[in-house]
Amino acid sequence: VAIVRRVDEPDWLIETRTAYDTVAQSYAEMLRDALATSPWDRAMLAGFAESITTAGGGAVVEVGCGPGRVSAHLHDLGLDVRGVDLSPAMIASARAAYPHLGFDVGSMTGMKADPASLAGLVAWYSIIHIPPPRQPEVFAEFARVLRPGGLLLLAFQVGDERRHITEGYGHPVTLSSYRLPPERIADQLTAAGFTVEVRTLREPVDPEKVPQAYLLAQRRTSEDLRHPSATIGCAIGDGPLT
Ligand SMILES: C[S@@+](CC[C@H](N)C(=O)[O-])C[C@H]1O[C@@H](n2cnc3c(N)ncnc32)[C@H](O)[C@@H]1O
Repeated sequence: VAIVRRVDEPDWLIETRTAYDTVAQSYAEMLRDALATSPWDRAMLAGFAESITTAGGGAVVEVGCGPGRVSAHLHDLGLDVRGVDLSPAMIASARAAYPHLGFDVGSMTGMKADPASLAGLVAWYSIIHIPPPRQPEVFAEFARVLRPGGLLLLAFQVGDERRHITEGYGHPVTLSSYRLPPERIADQLTAAGFTVEVRTLREPVDPEKVPQAYLLAQRRTSEDLRHPSATIGCAIGDGPLT
């Protein structure tokens, strides 16, 4: 696996890559079948996949895909998905496990996708490694690559604190992550050009320690950006029994 390190990268990005390169194989083995026992994860991914398909399909990227288990699940749900991850070792693991899928090394802080080229974007427990002051820039990058009407799905641990670990998945590592308040993330998504359509919280399931959040947001069109209330979500909510 080639070491990818750019001189202009911040320390936190280098630390995250180094940590996930270290744990990649163990992480892949421990998480490979986790979706099978996570019905609410599958429910959110199914809702996302169905929404993309209903809207006519299109290219989907899972950013921070790790060993590719979520990308593979989205593929099985019928999506045209590629995985992108900061860690070359994670991408090597994903390619070995799912050779029929495409995976690329890259960072959500500067995506290679063209503007408005994606129908969907999933960041499944990966924005947790972006320091909160930098998260609005990442959400602006998500808005850049999603086409108007495109969907963004986020999953993350709820809270408002930094966690720092020195051991993970059986290896010594140095890694920071952030528990995040869903309301602040929703506000930042709105400011970045999204309409938040689904906010789901669930209680922790062992070994989780805190509630888990899922946010589904739709990239607004240029017209919606001028009139933020004119979204598909509001139109659905106008029914007689809502
Ligand atoms: C907790 S793992 C989740 C992996 C996968 N989504 C899953 O659920 O199995 C976080 C992943 O995000 C990746 N990651 C962290 N920061 C990233 C960034 N700036 N760009 C792309 N990937 C990143 C890490 O390398 C790691 O593979």
